[in-house]
Amino acid sequence: MYKIAIMGGDGTGPEVTAEAVKVMNAAAAKFGFKYEGTEFDFGGERYKRTGETLPDSAIEEFRKFDAILLGAIGHPDVAPGILEKGILLKARFALDQYINLRPVRLYPGVWTPIKDKGPAEIDYVVVRENTGDQYTGVGGVTMKGTPQEVAVQTAVYNRFQVDRALKFAFEYARKYGKKTRGIGKENTLGLVGKTNVLTYVYDLWERAFHEMGKKEYPEIRRDYYHVDACCMWMVKNPEWFDILVTGNMFGDIITDLAAMTQGGMGIAAGGNINPDGVSMFEPIGGSAPKYTGQNVINPLAAICAMAMMLQILGEEKAAAAVETAVKFVTANKLKSLAAGKMGYSTTEVGDLVAQYVADN
Ligand code: IPM
Ligand code: MN
Repeated sequence: MYKIAIMGGDGTGPEVTAEAVKVMNAAAAKFGFKYEGTEFDFGGERYKRTGETLPDSAIEEFRKFDAILLGAIGHPDVAPGILEKGILLKARFALDQYINLRPVRLYPGVWTPIKDKGPAEIDYVVVRENTGDQYTGVGGVTMKGTPQEVAVQTAVYNRFQVDRALKFAFEYARKYGKKTRGIGKENTLGLVGKTNVLTYVYDLWERAFHEMGKKEYPEIRRDYYHVDACCMWMVKNPEWFDILVTGNMFGDIITDLAAMTQGGMGIAAGGNINPDGVSMFEPIGGSAPKYTGQNVINPLAAICAMAMMLQILGEEKAAAAVETAVKFVTANKLKSLAAGKMGYSTTEVGDLVAQYVADN
């Protein structure tokens, strides 16, 4: 019996998590696992009412769960940063979800802005470190508001953070790389860095990467990309990639680019993972306030996030079945992934996926 915390959050968040739950119910019935869902109402509305973002007591509560399913955080009446830092980043840091796992997979029938590339070419995974870098808040500001204002926000990494992220990435490459999946000659892990300028931080990453790879994962091919060049290849030759690993800031940026190549925010999912603790799964897109309550938003990203949750919980067959169902729906049903243009409503898309899981 899994205990799942369900945090719909703001805007269209609750609508898409409802569809993910619908599909999870179908998968549970089909594959014989049980779960108990508990809803939490943290988000912009609650903040406006009570001034509370995500209290420490909620973090303690979350520790009793097996996983968290998150919809979206972000409210038009709340200044940028408050909810992001107070809820999303707080959960990531307090629960030490040190990996942000972002698969980049173009499903059949989905439009990509990359000409001449299809599902066979756009099929890789970014392992983004999720606790370090500029996100640590190390830095400060002085003489604020004067012409001499100084602002510093530092990229911070220690060897421990780097090693644990690399270990996850190498293990992931061994288990889910293109060779293991039968679609490539070798399993490959590519480090994305900037060793030509960030000669402290990415030098640390690069040394740790090769040391670990040579010693513990000799069968995994190691590649290195500067982050700027990586952005070019993500557009020009995405088929070169298998598993990529990078720091928090670069990972944030390149996965938005990557998400667009896989069809955009309607489909892109991420997992904030603590392999020894409580992980949190979310669609990468925002709360889309203008579509709230209209039953037009695309729930597939939330459904894919839920599938990733099942995979990490060890329900691999159920996870694969949900992914197959999503592919069936993108290939055969949806006109577009964009809100209001799918040819189906939010709840109908959830029904289609759930039905396919039940029937196949
Ligand atoms: C993401 C988001 C967050 C991040 C923001 C909302 C704090 O952009 O999940 O990628 O920067 O990590
Ligand atoms: Mn981002």
